[in-house]
Amino acid sequence: MSINPDSILNDVLDIVRAHNRWRRLETINLIASENVMSPLAEYLYINDMEGRYAEGTLGSRYYQGVKFIDKLEGVVTELMKSLFNSKYADVRPISGTIANMAVYAALTQPGDTIFSIPIGAGSHISHRVTGAPGILKLKVVNLPWDNEEFNVDVDASIKLIKENKPKIVILGGSVYLFPHPIKELLDAVHEVGGYLMHDSAHVLGLIAGRAFPNPLDLGADLMTSSTHKTFPGPQGGVVFTNNEELFKQVQKAVFPGLTSNYHHHRYAATAITAIEMMKFGEAYAKQVVSNAKALAEELHALGFSVVAEKKGFTKTHQVLVDVSKLGGGAKAAVRLEEANIIVSKSALPWDKAFREEVGGLRLGVQEMTRFGMGKDEMKAIAEFMFRVLVKGEDAANVRREVMEFRREFTTVRYGLTPEDLGIGQSIKMIM
Ligand SMILES: Cc1ncc(COP(=O)(O)O)c(C=O)c1O
Repeated sequence: MSINPDSILNDVLDIVRAHNRWRRLETINLIASENVMSPLAEYLYINDMEGRYAEGTLGSRYYQGVKFIDKLEGVVTELMKSLFNSKYADVRPISGTIANMAVYAALTQPGDTIFSIPIGAGSHISHRVTGAPGILKLKVVNLPWDNEEFNVDVDASIKLIKENKPKIVILGGSVYLFPHPIKELLDAVHEVGGYLMHDSAHVLGLIAGRAFPNPLDLGADLMTSSTHKTFPGPQGGVVFTNNEELFKQVQKAVFPGLTSNYHHHRYAATAITAIEMMKFGEAYAKQVVSNAKALAEELHALGFSVVAEKKGFTKTHQVLVDVSKLGGGAKAAVRLEEANIIVSKSALPWDKAFREEVGGLRLGVQEMTRFGMGKDEMKAIAEFMFRVLVKGEDAANVRREVMEFRREFTTVRYGLTPEDLGIGQSIKMIM
């Protein structure tokens, strides 16, 4: 097959242009694991550190030419430690999955048992046998789950921990509506010689903004996370702990175990995001949680089956909707995409299977909050969803209105710009 490089060059430009326009300007993004960086973080994201190597740990590298990378890694580390009240932080993992795997590699042997919440309750693939724990030959046991409370069943979990003696108990998940019981499980975990790890990937920005309890303050031995969900930084990972011995083990797992380059160009953007969270994080996190609640209440008022009504629907950025009577999560997500509303299907604890047939939609309001949306806009979003999924209106009609609606919300808030610092102009993405 002959390839015409010039025509493909144009294709590449067209694809990026179309993506940028669609996702930045024309859609309502409710994917709970995504976000946008501030203009200043985005401006600093492109830098020479992108192509460099700094294998090793800060101050003990295998390469020359890294004095500024060392400086910056030190700055990011100190900022993250201060923001999350942690004695130690390893910012080198390139993603939340690698951060989780570093903890397992550091603390377990093949054949050991770890605990995580059930897949239907929102556990992430990196907590499951199909993902990192399986690669490391670990057994994964489900923490008992209480559907009424939409949370871990504490008494049943304590009993099971005592019986199975897990090396690690993982709390936190990809569906995360209410804080998991760290304090309540801690004694049992320690009694059997295990460690409690909280995966904060979804709620890191809410923790930074003091709208969600800090797992380390509650006694978690380790906290892992991505740096790009409610914490609106560049894609990356991080491990926190207050325990020096655990930290040293995790450091060794990160390198030479699981990474060789750390995508250093992201450090500047992570640092800027941490600074922004120190300055604007409380206002941002408060608005995110109040928007999620407003969206849940409006969907409920329109007749949607919103999960956890008895518990007030949510205390995070997420809303979980049972759409099993509307054709299921996969179909609903596709229908909404036709109307430029981007969501992900989600398993529910009471689903019979966890693939195409899942019954839920998981919605996250963090990105739209960053673009300045509030309670009124949440109401409008719920109505768009109602028209598509319940009234069965033509998706193209709704899409036109969604694009019009989105036009007012294209400036990122709760962050800094290069113009604020007088160092240049915000990046104009190719559109
Ligand atoms: C709870 C949880 N942990 C870890 C991850 C993995 O993060 P990453 O995509 O940074 O590897 C995710 C991803 O969505 C997640 O939801």
